[in-house]
Amino acid sequence: MDGNGQWAAQRSLPRTAGHRAAEAAVIDVIEAAHTAGVEWLSLYAFSTENWRRPAAEVDVLLRLVRRAIRKHALALHTRGIRCRFLGVTDPRIPPALARDIADLMALTRDNRRMTLTVAFDHGGRRDIVEAARSLIRDGVPPEQVTEESFARRLPHPDMPEVDLVIRTSGEQRISNFMLWQVAYAEWVFPPVLWPDFRAEHFWECLEVYRRRDRRFGGVQAPAPTGKGCR
Ligand code: IPE
Ligand code: MG
Repeated sequence: MDGNGQWAAQRSLPRTAGHRAAEAAVIDVIEAAHTAGVEWLSLYAFSTENWRRPAAEVDVLLRLVRRAIRKHALALHTRGIRCRFLGVTDPRIPPALARDIADLMALTRDNRRMTLTVAFDHGGRRDIVEAARSLIRDGVPPEQVTEESFARRLPHPDMPEVDLVIRTSGEQRISNFMLWQVAYAEWVFPPVLWPDFRAEHFWECLEVYRRRDRRFGGVQAPAPTGKGCR
């Protein structure tokens, strides 16, 4: 979800105004994905590197996330959305926010219509290092480490691999997002800034994805598995 700062700068507003304006886009995209029958939607809200931003901006982002959780928890639940978080390990995360996150996950844990994963204080490299550490801690012999067994050590191992990544604002980088899981993801880079991103932009991205020919390194697209959004 990129481009909040640029959106604010275009209006001569502080960067935080862009973060505030992002809420409408988040809600619209969750609704659009839910309506489209997307089973797994992940939103990259805050990276392990975002802690380097000025303290005042980080503070606003933390407050906005907490406010959004409290405001939308019931609506998410009634729509059958299971809410999960990816990351959330840094001690700088305020206890009140950690509690609200835990409450939202507990409230929605049995929902299955769609799983919404909020990557917050997320770093793809950190997840890979943690997976390696857990294998070593358990004394797993090297020859028993396979791509499958490694993937099971990552957070949320039941999550399917990423099919499509949408990065707004025209920036074309991975920025440490789910590095293992995006190995064969399709990427789209709509120029629209995140606060302006709406359901129709999301539909367009899905349409671009549908037209892509996914070969996974082979020569022919594999037969659909019937899982996920294809
Ligand atoms: C939002 O956009 C992404 C977050 C980390 C919250 P940015 O804050 O990165 O906006 P730009 O890239 O400066 O426009
Ligand atoms: Mg940015």
